Amino acid sequence: MNLARKLMTREGFMTLFILSVGGLGGLILGIPIIGFVLSPLIKPPPSVWRDVGAVDNFKIGKTVAVVYDYDQGPVQAWSGSTQKTKAWLRRNGPSSFTAFAAYCTHLGCPVLWLQDPKIFLCPCHGSVFYGDGSVAGGPAPRGLFTYPLRIRNGRVEIQAVKQPVVT
Ligand code: FES
Repeated sequence: MNLARKLMTREGFMTLFILSVGGLGGLILGIPIIGFVLSPLIKPPPSVWRDVGAVDNFKIGKTVAVVYDYDQGPVQAWSGSTQKTKAWLRRNGPSSFTAFAAYCTHLGCPVLWLQDPKIFLCPCHGSVFYGDGSVAGGPAPRGLFTYPLRIRNGRVEIQAVKQPVVT
């Protein structure tokens, strides 16, 4: 019996159907597993220095949002706000700054800065961070991440990788 005739039988059709469904299921499960196994080989995107403003634009003791383009490539006409991301920048002294990631260390929601109580607040599950970024309360397992920072030619630069969009 040739293959075409064999497949025309109920038993042949069921065998082919089960193999197809099993193969598809294996493929669906296998791709993430292969991705997980190979993930250590994938390089993270490079960090680059990003200009966030002149030193004199920031007041000592204040924390403000700094918005910058996250991609160093050409800006597309349709990029809009997707081209922007932000960090929180605190000026500690004449030449001392701290740049905080704008994302909660619990599940990544953008945190808000409240000037009067001088805290970062995460609106998603209520984590609270002190002005220095350390955890004050809530489910966040650690303080806010900070970026390497430098001052060059009177301008503040932070070193950050690509991030989700926050405007
Ligand atoms: S994401 Fe911020 S508390 Fe959960």
